[in-house]
Amino acid sequence: DKADIGVTGLAVMGRNLARNFAHHGYVVAVHNRTEERTNQFMDDYRDEGSFLPSGSVQDFVASLNRPRKAIIMVKAGGPTDAVIEELAAHMEPGDMIIDGGNANFADTRRREAALKERGLLFVGSGISGGEEGALNGPSIMPGGDAEAYKTLGPLLEDISAKVDGTPCCVHVGPDGAGHFVKMVHNGIEYADMQLIAESYDLLRQAQGLAPAEIADVFREWNQGELESYLIEITAEVLGHVDAETGKPFVDVVVDQAEQKGTGRWTVQSALDLGVPVTGIAEAVFSRALSGHPEQRAAARALAGPNGTAAHANLVEDVRRALYASKIVAYAQGFDQMVAASEEYGWDIDLGAMATIWRGGCIIRARFLDRIREAYDADRRLPTLLVDPTFAEALTAAQDSWRRVVATAATIGVPTPGFSSALAYYDALRRDRLPASLVQGLRDFFGAHTYRRVDRDGSFHTDWSADRSESPA
Ligand code: 6PG
Repeated sequence: DKADIGVTGLAVMGRNLARNFAHHGYVVAVHNRTEERTNQFMDDYRDEGSFLPSGSVQDFVASLNRPRKAIIMVKAGGPTDAVIEELAAHMEPGDMIIDGGNANFADTRRREAALKERGLLFVGSGISGGEEGALNGPSIMPGGDAEAYKTLGPLLEDISAKVDGTPCCVHVGPDGAGHFVKMVHNGIEYADMQLIAESYDLLRQAQGLAPAEIADVFREWNQGELESYLIEITAEVLGHVDAETGKPFVDVVVDQAEQKGTGRWTVQSALDLGVPVTGIAEAVFSRALSGHPEQRAAARALAGPNGTAAHANLVEDVRRALYASKIVAYAQGFDQMVAASEEYGWDIDLGAMATIWRGGCIIRARFLDRIREAYDADRRLPTLLVDPTFAEALTAAQDSWRRVVATAATIGVPTPGFSSALAYYDALRRDRLPASLVQGLRDFFGAHTYRRVDRDGSFHTDWSADRSESPA
């Protein structure tokens, strides 16, 4: 008569997770800082399953079966620390605290280490899928001790989304690995949305298609290799008409994109790890640019074309440019997981990450099956771009991709996602990069030294005297 699992923090995500556990036959302890919300929860959902409500943290912890498993679904940052502290005070060694919010992985590492010293298991877990996913099956990315996953994992797998019978939940790795992977998921989500937005913008500007017509284009694209949740809902949003004005919904929404920060964190971490996640970075910066109305107003008078383009088969070219740029953005995100896995000793299984992103989460897509296959075929793939299937797709797309970027530049439509993805692709495949000149300049002004193509070691040229070269 005690609970199998508890949820504290009954805002919409916590509420739906608790209901999801109950729907799967678990006894669920529920708690919220303001008790009214717990009472409301019981009024609304008591008939859906077995819930044990508590008015205090102490009672909440006491209502859990041992080893206790308490999921916290509260705001990232200070509020999460406060709740962890309260729970931990009433827990005993072997008990588990699971943070299902969008925590920064560095915080998760710190919390995990601190709780471990007190004998408690801390599981930082990414949970994706929004309200609907939390209720009907999210994608779950739990980190933390493998020991914790042994008892907790089966419950999480039970409530997760399933694709072909496989749960969209797997133990990601120790300490902050789960939240790191969720962060990269969100970064990729930003990149996906940016590429979708550029596609829409280009079709509208270059050929004057109306939002409702572009909605049909996306609906059609969703039948092919681009099939995904985000492409599907793009058709919904573009097809929506504002009830009050009769205008397309996209024309009445303020064009300043907001963010809660996971995309920014992804780029910050990528900078530290030295991984060029240009697709995600362009998406984050595009949101930032959109949010500067004064600068945008001042710049409106600057010169530039504002025309349409006679671009044959633009729709199909944009589709291919979108697909190619998407491959680049995912390749970069997966590179970042490789780098972090090495840096923090997480041993992340990339194929498994693609597997649990196939369903439940925001970036769920048919495409992720291909990524899984790529890593199944070669665990040590240097970059997703060279997987034979993706290399072939890029070959098929590249002429279209180049035409799209050229058209966009010619008529003055910004496509930072498409353009930077193409630049990345071209840079990566170059035999020689102009980085050699950068090295020469660094050596000239700061004696920063360089390596030679023809022998080992570092060298410096005496630029201010006779330009003789010496080993550094
Ligand atoms: C998910 C989402 C979710 C996130 C939104 C909003 O996986 O369910 O990623 O966790 O909160 O994507 O993020 P921004 O407000 O930063 O756009």
